[in-house]
Order: sequence, then C-alpha cells, then structure tokens
Amino acid sequence: MVAPEEISKKIFLEGKDLKKSFFLKGKEIKVFDRVNFSFENGKVIVIQGRSGVGKSTLLSLLGGLDRPTEGSISFEGTPFENCSNEELALLRRRKIGIIFQNFNLLSSWTAAENVEAVLMHSGVSESVRRQKVEALLSELGLADRLDNLPSELSVGQQQRVAIARTLANDPVLILADEPTGDVDPETAKEIIEKLLVLVKNKGTTLIVATHGNFSESWADQIYQMKDGGLEKK
Ligand SMILES: Nc1ncnc2c1ncn2[C@@H]1O[C@H](COP(=O)(O)OP(=O)(O)O)[C@@H](O)[C@H]1O
Ligand SMILES: [Mg+2]
Repeated sequence: MVAPEEISKKIFLEGKDLKKSFFLKGKEIKVFDRVNFSFENGKVIVIQGRSGVGKSTLLSLLGGLDRPTEGSISFEGTPFENCSNEELALLRRRKIGIIFQNFNLLSSWTAAENVEAVLMHSGVSESVRRQKVEALLSELGLADRLDNLPSELSVGQQQRVAIARTLANDPVLILADEPTGDVDPETAKEIIEKLLVLVKNKGTTLIVATHGNFSESWADQIYQMKDGGLEKK
C-alpha cells in the first residue's frame, strides 16, 4: 500500500526532452529544444524569460492545446502522446484551467454569465451554479459587477472575471500566461494576492509565465527559460 503522503508527492506534471519548432514555408523556427522539468502538485511555479523565448508556447503544450515536436509530457501519470485531441480537451475541461493573456471573455455576456458558462455541462443545478458564480466573483471583489458586460469593466476587473471563470470548475492545474501583463503594479499585486489565496486554499498547482513583473516572493519555485532550455533558478 502507498501512504497518502507518497501519493500527494508523486510527480504531477513532467516534461522530458521537449522540443518545439514551428515550420513556416518549409523553414524551421526552433523555439526550444531541451526543456525538462518535473513539478509536484500544490506548488506555485513561475516561469520567467524574455519576450519570445517560448513561455506561451510551453504553456500551450502543458494545456494540451498544441503538441511538442519531440519529447513527452505527462500529467498525473498520463502521457499526452497517448491521448487524442478530444481526450486532451476533456482533460482540460475537467482538470486544467487556463488564464490567457487577452482574457478571452465573451463580449455580449455579463461577468456572471462568462463565469457560469464553464459550469453549464457540469451537471450542477442552476441555483447551485449561480451561488458558486456569485461566491467566486465576490471573493475576487466583484460582488457589485455581476451583471456588467466586459466593456463596462476595467482591464483589472476583466482579468478578475477571467480568473473566476478559470477557478469555477475547480481545476487541479492552472496555467496563467502573463496574468498581470496589462495592469498597473498595485492592481497586479491585488489580483495575484487574491488568486494565490484561492489556489493555496485548494492546493491547486499554479504555473505562471511572465517576462518579469510577477514578484518572486509569491513563488515556491522559479524557472528561467533561455537558450532553448528551462533552468531552475
Ligand atoms: N503559431 C506559431 N507559428 C510560428 N511561430 C510561432 C507560433 N507561435 C509562436 N511562435 C514563435 O515562437 C517563439 C516563442 O513565442 P512565445 O511562446 O509567444 O514566446 P513568449 O511567450 O516567451 O514571449 C517566437 O519566436 C514566436 O514568433
Ligand atoms: Mg507569451
């Protein structure tokens, strides 16, 4: 029998000899060619690196949105190369939340509707769904903005709606691409601190890609992406 503490310590997300190139008109654009990592669950992991080094590309591989050119990724012991695109989409819906840099909110839906959308096919009743949406948006300081459209919200508020939407179906892994990219430093601090309280309470693993403005004090582990590889700082 495996002790519970052994299970929780097992490798959560692993990348082995990852290489990613894009091919444009037969020409290879190499993004990285020697990325290796092994992350435990429940950690806040920051991936730093200059613009263009491949942080967003790596996050898209970790979310199963794209495939590596070579190498393998496994999540909770499941190798992505054994999964069809449909299986990866299902895995994403159940377990992985992605906070995109441009939020991807639906412009004709209110804040509450944007968050509720991810719970539509979860089998949860409408009243429980609404309660959950209101609780999440309230925790993120948006209790009085439930019925506003994205265009009626500030960039920082839109970012918090995107975070609430990602948290709504209780992912075990959250991938956040430059989550504080477009807001002032004070707002960024406020948003990140709220996100961190929520992920720490639930033991969610958070992987943040940033070109630099994410405070290192929030991270359990910091990695640096450069020269085609990923190194622990
Ligand atoms: N779909 C794509 N087709 C071709 N090149 C791409 C594509 N996506 C990203 N790239 C290239 O890959 C490199 C890394 O991009 P990206 O992952 O966005 O870097 P970062 O997020 O670190 O700024 C860049 O040179 C970029 O132009
Ligand atoms: Mg990027």
